[in-house]
Parts: sequence; structure tokens; C-alpha cells
Amino acid sequence: MATTWFYIYFLALISPILLIILNLPSSFGEKNPTSLFIFGDSLYDAGNNNYFLTPLRVNHWPYGETYFHFPTGRTSNGRLIPDFIAEYAKLPLIPPCLQPGISYNYGVNFASLGAGALQETNKGSVISLNIQLSYFKNVEKNLRHKLGGEEAKRFLSKAVYIFSIGTNDYNSKTTPIPFHSQEEYVGMVIGNLTNVIKGIYNKGGRKFGILNLVAKGCFPVARALRSAGSEGSCMDEFSTARKLHNTALSKVLVELERQLKGFKYSETDFYTAFSERINNPSKYGFKEAKTACCGSGPYRGLGGCGGNNKYELCDTPDDYLFFDPAHPSEKANEQFAKLMWSGNSPLIWPYNLKTLFELQTQ
Ligand SMILES: *[C@@H]1O[C@H](CO)[C@@H](O)[C@H](O)[C@H]1NC(C)=O
Repeated sequence: MATTWFYIYFLALISPILLIILNLPSSFGEKNPTSLFIFGDSLYDAGNNNYFLTPLRVNHWPYGETYFHFPTGRTSNGRLIPDFIAEYAKLPLIPPCLQPGISYNYGVNFASLGAGALQETNKGSVISLNIQLSYFKNVEKNLRHKLGGEEAKRFLSKAVYIFSIGTNDYNSKTTPIPFHSQEEYVGMVIGNLTNVIKGIYNKGGRKFGILNLVAKGCFPVARALRSAGSEGSCMDEFSTARKLHNTALSKVLVELERQLKGFKYSETDFYTAFSERINNPSKYGFKEAKTACCGSGPYRGLGGCGGNNKYELCDTPDDYLFFDPAHPSEKANEQFAKLMWSGNSPLIWPYNLKTLFELQTQ
């Protein structure tokens, strides 16, 4: 008799605790969608640069005008590529890591406008890729405290890690290429990117999505600065270096897959996807691929868009490939995201993001 009552009391006492324990997996376990961690530059930054002092910032009108209806720090009239990827993966918008009080349940965005793989790139004004990795390690530590080592590792190995990085490392304003051969310099950029990927892998990350670099010579900002006469060419002083970068990137990803057990990736030929739209805008539903929607001067490629700058703004951003002198419109971002999500070889290989999200990992 006494033992029965003991068990009843015991169960009544322990059941709330059991419920809490049993509840944990439902917020982080099998039923939970695969989370998304985001690294990189302005193409992926959802507002991190709003949280520290930097001139590299776009939290002013008309950025965000058509979707959010207020500026969020994103370099477009609306959503960026990771916002669409999150939607396709049935996740909420992934918050910037520096936003106070965020939850890590669905992933974190570490990207920073202007960032490069090298710490010298826009030094002091951005969160460089190495610092992004150290922020990720803090998140990992937090998750371990919250979930325990095993569960945290499961959570992180299931997650997808996407990168847009490198384009700012090949930029006339910041690049110390003259002190190195191009091959050496590309080796440094790829070497630093590789180390960050390995750093994430060592904490449990297994699935990586990576963009190669586009030819920036046909961006409105480059067209505006280029002397008349070189019209029509998308080459600039860093074209060769970017091409070397893309070749080296493909090679290193194949090597990582061979070296690291369980490493899976999706590489996007962003170079080709972007060029196709610049060369054949109407095929993709754009009326204009040379001039930006927002900016000033020739091709609206000079000065800034909004804020204290004098600028022109188009009525229909969806008609434009570029929203500002250097960044795609929301419509272009959506097309790129769709391609990354469900596209095929040769533009997306060896897996697309949809497949990466569904892949089972140990
Ligand atoms: C990373 O970049 C630094 C310059 O910031 C360079 O000195 C170093 O060699 C690079 N690391 C690798 C592994 O290439």
C-alpha cells in the first residue's frame, strides 16, 4: 500500500519534469525543420551592419520599400536570397546574429555587408569571415549548454550552411593584389574560406551551399566608372582573379568531400546564372539589366541609393535586374534562390539545396 502511494506521489512530482524533458526534442528534434546558418557579404546580410558603427550600411529608404516597407539593412528593395531559401525550407526569416535576444532554433545569419574572406578586406567596417566563424562558435557553445553535446551536434549536423563570400576580396578599393601574384592572392582567399568551412565541420556542420563569384564588370557601378569605348565588355581588372577563384573553389570543394567524412555540398555557378540575365534580360522577365533601379549618374551606377545621397528611383523594381548600383533586385534574388533550391547540373552541382536539406546525416 505504502509503496503504491509512493509511486503515485513520485509520478505526480516527476511528470512535469518528464514533460519538459520530452518537450525538448519536439522543439529541436526530428520533427523540427532543418535549420539554416548564413555566412557572407551584402548579398546575404539581413542587418548585422546596423548593430555596430560602420559607413557600410544601407538601413535607409528606399531599401526594403516593396516587401518589408521599411529598411532592414538588406541591400535590396525586398528580400535577399537567404530569405527565399528559408521560405522554401519552411523556416521563418533567419535573424542577424547581432540582433539582441534572437532565438537560435532555426539558425542564425552572420553575414556582413562588405565582408571578405580576408580580414584585411574593409577592415574595421565589417564582420570578416573569420569573425563570423568565431560568432558561430559562440552560438555552438550556447547550444551545447542548452541541449547537451549530443543533441547540439545532431542539430548542427542536420543544418545547412550557406556562403556568399569572396567578391569583396577582389575589389580595387581594398585589395592588396599588387603585393602578391594573382595565384598567391587567390590561394589566400580560398585558404581562409576553406579554414572556415573546416571550422564549422569540426563543430558538427556537414551540409554546405556555396556560390562562385560573378563578373562584376557589368554591374551598373562598373559601367558608370568605365571609360567610354570599353562598352560591351564585362571584364575588369579582377576578372582573371575571380575566374581563378572559381576554378580553385570547385577544386577545393571536391577535395573537402574526399577528405572530410560526411561532408556534402551544393555549388552554384552564380557567374553563369548572373551573366545569362545580364546578356538576355527579357528571357528572365527583366526590362533593364544595365541601369540600376536606384542610384545616380550614368546607369544610375554612381553615388549611393537613398539616405543623404542625391538619387533617382525607378517605379517598378521588378523590371530591373539591379536594385542599386551593385546589388540585385528582389525579383532577381528570388530567381537565384529558386535556382539554388531546385536547379540542376551544370549550374547547381552535385546537389541542389532542396536535396541538401533533406539529406540524412550522422
Ligand atoms: C588567410 O589570410 C591571411 C591574410 O589575411 C594570410 O596571411 C593567410 O596565409 C591566409 N590563410 C591561408 C590558409 O591561406
